[in-house]
Amino acid sequence: MTSGPDIRSIGVVGSGLMGAGITEVCARAGLDVVVREVSPEAAAAGRQRITASLDRALRSGKIAEKERDAALGRIRVTDDFDALADRDAVIEAIAEDERLKTEVFAALDKVVKREDAILASNTSSIPIMKLAVATTRPQHVIGIHFFNPVPVLGLVEIVPSLLTSRHVIARTEHLVDEVLGKQAIRAQDRAGFIVNALLIPSLLSAIRMVESGTATAKDIDTGMVLGCAHPMGPLRLADLIGLDTVGAIAASMYEEYKEPLYSAPPLLLRMIEAGLLGRKSGHGFYPYD
Ligand code: CAA
Repeated sequence: MTSGPDIRSIGVVGSGLMGAGITEVCARAGLDVVVREVSPEAAAAGRQRITASLDRALRSGKIAEKERDAALGRIRVTDDFDALADRDAVIEAIAEDERLKTEVFAALDKVVKREDAILASNTSSIPIMKLAVATTRPQHVIGIHFFNPVPVLGLVEIVPSLLTSRHVIARTEHLVDEVLGKQAIRAQDRAGFIVNALLIPSLLSAIRMVESGTATAKDIDTGMVLGCAHPMGPLRLADLIGLDTVGAIAASMYEEYKEPLYSAPPLLLRMIEAGLLGRKSGHGFYPYD
């Protein structure tokens, strides 16, 4: 059995870089979206982020004014957790912190009323089972991992845990492939899944290269852009993802595998401690306006 049109309403927890992008993509696909933030101020900032991205799509001719307005009309950003109660599916997209995510899943378990609701996480690396067991309905918990910038990149990793039901997997694949128009790939429930298990070690290697003085960030990036046709170099990409997020993903993969290639180099840790988090903080390996 597939989902058919059964998923019409989505909840998104968090309206940062990823939550805002997921909200935009869902609303543009015609779904009704409630976004939950921690405070009225954070909700206002989230709505602003989503509006700015829709305006950008309008300016570049990807959507018409009517579609922008219709998408905005389908989005409600609130600090009320109970507003998620009637959702067909909820996607958690808060910071990459296992304790905080576990708390969100325990709270969703209490609040979301529909018995068949899908409870999904956009985690980049944390095993889904750790979140599933925080609920009384692990068969409904699944990973739906989007890529940044969400409105641009076409991939979504779908990560069932050992306990996720086949029906939930089928409904999720239908949502991603047919409703959102992205390409789903399926990964086993291992820290880092497919893409980050391959990507993060290469970003960490580039940071080690800067650290050891092998080359400058700019030359390393130029090397990978012009030498390998990557759309952006590893250090600019680390800045885009957010250095705190890169560090958190590395930590959960290191915890899982204990492989040196997943361990965060000291330079990355010092930059995170300094608040040099990349594009979102205005400075990382490069300065941003
Ligand atoms: N939101 C919405 N649209 C955006 C955007 C954003 N943040 N950034 C860029 N775009 C759009 C632009 O509007 C533009 O659209 P048009 O062509 O229709 O005008 C298009 O993307 C290209 O943008 P630019 O011309 O400004 O710049 P670019 O060609 O250098 O592309 C990029 C920018 C899309 C970010 C591109 O460099 C790229 O794809 N980089 C790689 C990103 C990547 O690897 N992401 C994965 C990170 S890993 C991850 O997300 C998983 C995780 O768990 C950490």
